[in-house]
Amino acid sequence: MHSLIIFASGTGTNAYAIIEYFKKNGKAKVSLVVSNKANAGVLEIAKREEIPFLIIDRKTFHETLLLEQLSSYKPSLIVLAGFLWKIPDALIHAFPGKIVNIHPALLPSYGGKGMYGHNVHNAVITAKEKESGITIHYVDEHYDEGDVIVQARCKVGQNDSADTLAKRIHKLEHFYFPRTIEFLLDTQ
Ligand code: GRF
Repeated sequence: MHSLIIFASGTGTNAYAIIEYFKKNGKAKVSLVVSNKANAGVLEIAKREEIPFLIIDRKTFHETLLLEQLSSYKPSLIVLAGFLWKIPDALIHAFPGKIVNIHPALLPSYGGKGMYGHNVHNAVITAKEKESGITIHYVDEHYDEGDVIVQARCKVGQNDSADTLAKRIHKLEHFYFPRTIEFLLDTQ
C-alpha cells in the first residue's frame, strides 16, 4: 500500500477528501499529516482519523530531522493541500517529483506569493473572468510554477462572490485531487 504525507495549514477539507477516498479504495493511506498551525482544522481531522501528525515551525521546517522523519514514512507522494509556506529546496531535492500541490485557480494566472484562498477568488472576480478552476502541479523551487499535472475548469458567474466561487472550486478539488493522486500512484 502506498504511503501519503499531507501538508496542510487550514480546515483540511481536501485532506479529508483524500483520506476518505483512499480508505475506500485501499491503494494508499495517509500516514502523516504535517501542519504549521497548532489550531488548524486539519489536525482535528488527523486526531479523529487516528493519523499521526506533526506540528512544525519555521525552524524545524528547515532541519534535516524533518527530512529524516518524513523519509521514515516512505511516502510515495507528499501532498500539499492548503499549505502556504514555500517548500525548502532540501525537501524538494530529497523527494524529487514526489511533491504535489493544489492551487485554486488556473495557473499560471492568479498564482505566486500572497495568492491563496479568497485573495485568489477576489482577483478572479475583479478581473471579470468567465471561468476559473483548479491546478494540480508538481512543486519546484518557485511558488506555483512547477509542471502542471491536471487542470479542471468551472464557470464564474456575474453574481459570484469569493465565497460562492470558493465553494464551486472546493467541489472540483475534492473530486479531482484524490483521483489525480491515484493516477500518479498507479503510474509511478
Ligand atoms: C484549497 O482551496 C487549495 O486549493 C488551497 O488551499 C485550500 C485548502 O482548503 N491550496 P482546505 O483546507 O482543504 O479546505
